[in-house]
Amino acid sequence: MTQTITIALSKGRIYKETMPLLKAAGIEVLDDPETSRKLILDTTNENIKVVIIRATDVPTYVEYGAADLGVIGKDVLMEHGGHGLYEMLDLNIACCKLMTAGFKDTPLPEGQLKVATKFVNCAKDFFSGQGRQIEVIKLYGSMELAPIVGLADCIVDVVDTGNTLRANGLVPQEHIADISSRLVVNKASMKMKHTALQGILDKVSAAVGARK
Ligand code: ADP
Ligand code: PRP
Ligand code: MG
Repeated sequence: MTQTITIALSKGRIYKETMPLLKAAGIEVLDDPETSRKLILDTTNENIKVVIIRATDVPTYVEYGAADLGVIGKDVLMEHGGHGLYEMLDLNIACCKLMTAGFKDTPLPEGQLKVATKFVNCAKDFFSGQGRQIEVIKLYGSMELAPIVGLADCIVDVVDTGNTLRANGLVPQEHIADISSRLVVNKASMKMKHTALQGILDKVSAAVGARK
């Protein structure tokens, strides 16, 4: 019996940077998610489909087996916790750093710190490792605004060039983790669809290796 493989991807940089790696594995997507309204995309392999979802939903789809494979930033994976899935490959794409950031030359206040972020668990873990109690202000984007308007003392967000922080008068402060995107696999799928999945993993791994 032929098994269907579902790959979960998010639009934007992960989709764009994953495409050449899938192509190297012989998988080409037949629709452009930037122009199509379709959420399930066909590929050149009739047994392989790509689903387009929000980056933060990818681990959930893979955890529950709604997708067999997914590509997510290590930041999103750390925040999710990784239960129900295997982190199989570092794709070395969408590279950035998870950092704290705030105002230059302004020491953080004593006592409870207000931290604005969409990475609630990462922020709590990081500051608790320093023995600091924090109040997390959960945001869904534009974290850089929070210190400026007095909503928070600092933020936890991903930083690449530092342009967004600079443009908003903030500086990167403490390094939490180096981030790149990972190929994750549902644990049950890895057993039930082992041959098909291992074939894809081997080809993608070779494509990642060839770039280094
Ligand atoms: P979202 O809509 O969730 O912000 P993105 O496509 O911007 O989705 O981010 C997807 C992943 O790409 C993030 O989880 C992170 O790992 C990485 N990333 C985010 N911003 C940057 C950036 N400016 N440069 C490089 N990688 C980034
Ligand atoms: C991400 C992140 C920062 C910015 C960092 O935003 O949330 O704001 O990139 O990159 P930089 O250091 O090179 O400026 P993104 O571009 O993904 O926009 P978003 O708000 O739509 O997620
Ligand atoms: Mg983003």
